Amino acid sequence: MVKPEKFVKEAIEEIRNTVGDGKAIIALSGGVDSSVCTMLAYRAIEDNLIPVFVDTGLMRLGEPERIREIFSKMNLVFVEAKDEFLSALKGVEDPEEKRKIIGELFVRVFERVAREKNAEYLIQGTIYPDIIESQGGIKSHHNVGGFPIDYEFKGVIEPLRELYKDEVREVARYLGLPEEISERMPFPGPGLAVRIVGEVTPEKVEVVRRANAIVEEELKDYEKWQCFAALVGKATGVKGDNRVWGYIISVRAVGSRDGMTADPVKVDYDVLKKIALRITGEIPEVARVVYDITPKPPATIEYE
Ligand code: XMP
Repeated sequence: MVKPEKFVKEAIEEIRNTVGDGKAIIALSGGVDSSVCTMLAYRAIEDNLIPVFVDTGLMRLGEPERIREIFSKMNLVFVEAKDEFLSALKGVEDPEEKRKIIGELFVRVFERVAREKNAEYLIQGTIYPDIIESQGGIKSHHNVGGFPIDYEFKGVIEPLRELYKDEVREVARYLGLPEEISERMPFPGPGLAVRIVGEVTPEKVEVVRRANAIVEEELKDYEKWQCFAALVGKATGVKGDNRVWGYIISVRAVGSRDGMTADPVKVDYDVLKKIALRITGEIPEVARVVYDITPKPPATIEYE
């Protein structure tokens, strides 16, 4: 296990020595890796660091606002790109196509900022398992979000390249990042888009975002790798005196060691029922709630 104090000191030195008086840019997602890198780089080069947060409109409830608050003393570039992402996704049903559109658009937005700001260095939160994966040809690094970036940097710095996830969390705690970041559940890059089966619409994003907040709140005391809501289709329901054609929300809560395999959490029946009643009661567009009891394999954790 890495010693946070020593690690932080050396990482700051490395960033400072490499960047000098230049400017560095980082894509800040709010995940633990990019948040730790941002904190380290800020300590090293202060206002010469440009953290870029892209609001894709696909984040969880309150997340963009919290990130803005947590990193408020920095030179944060907050890109409001909700409409751009939602219009690019219009009419697209294929899961891989959805992921590709989001990843590419993200990189193009990031590139735009790098150019505007004349950033000379790229800082990335690549961790040791990412490097192992990329050697297997699964992910290539020195790019952002899995897509090559079309902008020439003088250099790329990856301060977390030798750390495992639990070590990054340890460093996050040491740096005083709030628990919502140091202990954050994994959240996929393409965000809520992979928790909506089929076409993404503004209405579906709002519905799944609200349902997700209820699930996270009700399951906060359960031990888990992840818990969330997904919007999986439509079904008939009855609300008041009317039959309605509403959305089906699937609740997923899994335990896992590394995300490679997973087992559903044994959530108490009363808690599940409360979740079902809250979601259908608080979100008029939802007609039905189900609990997903499929392990991985054969199912994946996310829906797309
Ligand atoms: P699956 O759904 O493949 O997910 O069982 C395994 C773990 O990876 C997370 N996940 C992602 N993380 N970008 C990410 O950074 C992605 O595109 C992505 N897709 C899935 C997922 O939340 C789970 O923890």
